[in-house]
Formats: sequence, C-alpha cells, structure tokens
Amino acid sequence: MDLESIRKDFHALSEGLIYLDNAATTLTPKPVIDALTSYYAYYRANPLRSIHLAARKAEDKLNEARHTCANFINASEKEIVFTRNTTEGLNMVANGLNLGEYGGNIVVTALEHHSNLLPWMRKCYKEGRELRIVFPKRSDGVITVDDVAEKIDEETLLVAFTHVSNVLGTILPVEDIVKVAHEHNTYTVLDAAQSVPHMKLDVKRLGVDFLALSGHKICGPTGSGILYIRDTCFDKVEPVFVGGGSIVDVETTHFTYAEPPSKFEAGTIAYCEAMALADALKYVSQIGFDNILSHDKKLIRLAHELIGDIKGLEIYGPSPNDKTSLLAFNINGLDPSEVAMILDSTSGIEVRSGHLCAQVCTKRVLGQPNGIVRVSSYFYNTEGEITKLADTIKHIVDTMVL
Ligand code: ALA
Repeated sequence: MDLESIRKDFHALSEGLIYLDNAATTLTPKPVIDALTSYYAYYRANPLRSIHLAARKAEDKLNEARHTCANFINASEKEIVFTRNTTEGLNMVANGLNLGEYGGNIVVTALEHHSNLLPWMRKCYKEGRELRIVFPKRSDGVITVDDVAEKIDEETLLVAFTHVSNVLGTILPVEDIVKVAHEHNTYTVLDAAQSVPHMKLDVKRLGVDFLALSGHKICGPTGSGILYIRDTCFDKVEPVFVGGGSIVDVETTHFTYAEPPSKFEAGTIAYCEAMALADALKYVSQIGFDNILSHDKKLIRLAHELIGDIKGLEIYGPSPNDKTSLLAFNINGLDPSEVAMILDSTSGIEVRSGHLCAQVCTKRVLGQPNGIVRVSSYFYNTEGEITKLADTIKHIVDTMVL
C-alpha cells in the first residue's frame, strides 16, 4: 500500500490536519469527487422515469452502480435498495416489517448506535412488544454469542445488532448470532455502518436478513447508503414511502407495487450519489481489505502502546486484537469534549467526543455520564499522526491532571 500516493487523493490531508474521526465520516478521495461531479454534469436526467436517451444513459449507469454494490456484499441486484444512510435503512426495516400480532420481543445489544436502538424501541412501544437489551458480561464490552443467546426465546421475533461498536470497536460474532436467531425463527438485522469500511462483507456468509450501511463511512458521498433486503423477506416489508417509481399500476381505489428494489425506492433517489458510492466501493476495494485490516491493526496497536500506560488516562474496550481501529478513552477529571477541543486547537487533531449517539453504551456499559473521547483511524492515517496524538495527550495529562 503506497500511503504517500493514497494520501494525495484526500484534499483535507494536504491541509495539515490530523483527521482521526473516521468512524463519524471518512474523507472522500478525489477520484470519487470527480466521478460525482461528472454524474451531475453528464448524467443529469431522471433514471427509471423518462425514455429519452439521456435518461436511459443515467439508468444504465445506475444499474451498473447497483451491480457493483450487489457484488461488493455478494447480494443480488434486486436485494440492493439505495438509501440516504444506515439510519434510513434501519428505520425502513423497523417501520415496514410486519411482525404480526402484538406481543413477543425484540432483542438488541447495549452497544447499539441510536439508529439501531430507537427504531426498535419505538416499534416495541407502538406494537406492544418487549425490548430486550443484551449487556456485555465482560468488562471490556465484548458481547459473546452466549450473551445474546440468553435473551432469545420462543417469543423472540427479531434480533437487531451492530457488527462493530461505534464506541469501542468491538466486533460481534455475526454468523454465530444469526445461527442462534434463525434456530428460533427470528429475523436478523445487521448495522454494518462501522464494519463495512474495515472488512469484506458477504451477506450470504453472514446469513442476515437485513443489512444497512452508509456510503459516507467508506469514502463515498453523503446521502448515499445501501439497505440489503434478503429476497425471501421482500413480501414481509411494506415500503415506508410510496409514490413515483414504486408502483406498476394505480387505480382510483388501489395500486400495485413494482418489484423490488423499485418498490422500496419511491421518488427520485439520490442517484448521482448512488453512482458515486459504487466508485467509492471500487476505490476501497482496490486498496484491498487485507491491506486495510493490517494497517488498522498496526495503528491501533501503536496507539495502545503509546497511550496505554499514561497515568490518569483510562482506555475502554477490548485489546487491539479484538476490535477495529477505534480507541475510546477518558482523561481523569477532564470532560471528554474539553479533551477533544484541546487536541483540535493545539495540534489540529480531530477526534469525536461525548456519547457518540450511543448513550446506552457510554452511560450504562461504560458508566461515563459525559461520554468518552474516540480516536478512529482509516487507511490514510499514519504512524506519525498517532505518535503526535500520543504526545499531545501526554502533554494534556502532564499539564492539566492534578
Ligand atoms: N455514527 C457516527 C459516529 O459514531 C456518526 O460518530
């Protein structure tokens, strides 16, 4: 992996900033920005609507993008629904999936981002179901298949869980959880927002019924995302939105849905963004997930080595071997947001702080009322950047911790 030439693709990196907030959103490389611009310039006609040449050209490009996205996660094209982001995809499942009569329970984990917790909490409230939250037994926040299995019973209708925690980087054993869930005949919903940038996803191997991801977390445009709906679940989900493009026939009293994925894509979708998402997936695939993973490991190990022994600093979550490239920590006596502000203002180091849209995790699992500081790296970060981060943290501790 030629880090120097890769870094030239990212404008923000040339400005001297140290961008370590990749779990919130990644940077977008120039080839993807150029592709997006070219779609606005040369493919500006509504695909799947008009029959003129320009619209058909846009439609072909969109179909090509869907093909790339399907291949990327080993799905079929009709199983790929373009969305704005992970949150939208998960809400589409929670609001559209028919779970039958009132009652029963839905299982989630305590590591969930709000986007994979609140839709289920609200569904349970509205539909008279019990929400069961799996808390980790281990102090490092790792959730095992046994922890999840304990909450699943004959009344369980659905298990929704994250692949990778956005707070701790913990990787959940997806295939094992899906196996237990399916033994109990439940649906499975995977939040892949934090895993897709770092590992090769294969929906057939994972075995999930639904999977949602965001384009902006894998070098793609904002407002782009994918909801995978397994073909056997098509008729179990009612589209949340209806309108143009989602039907084949309308009468005064009724209408007939189009076949998926159109059924789930009412209105003009963000099609230029969807096209550029495919370019982002190709870009990241060219870097290679083996390269990304080994780079992730190198940086996160270095961060643990350099920061781990600092007195007055507490690291949360598992060891580098059991997570992606996230580091969650607090400095004793300092508010996490204050630490993030100092890193930014003194050294141009950009990290995220607070509850990270995962309050059950930060407050109930970690017991941190003000949240944590999170460092999240990606393939374009360097060991030098991690060293500077560690030096700045040491300086903060030396000068501010009593
Ligand atoms: N989900 C994003 C994060 O963890 C925004 O920062």
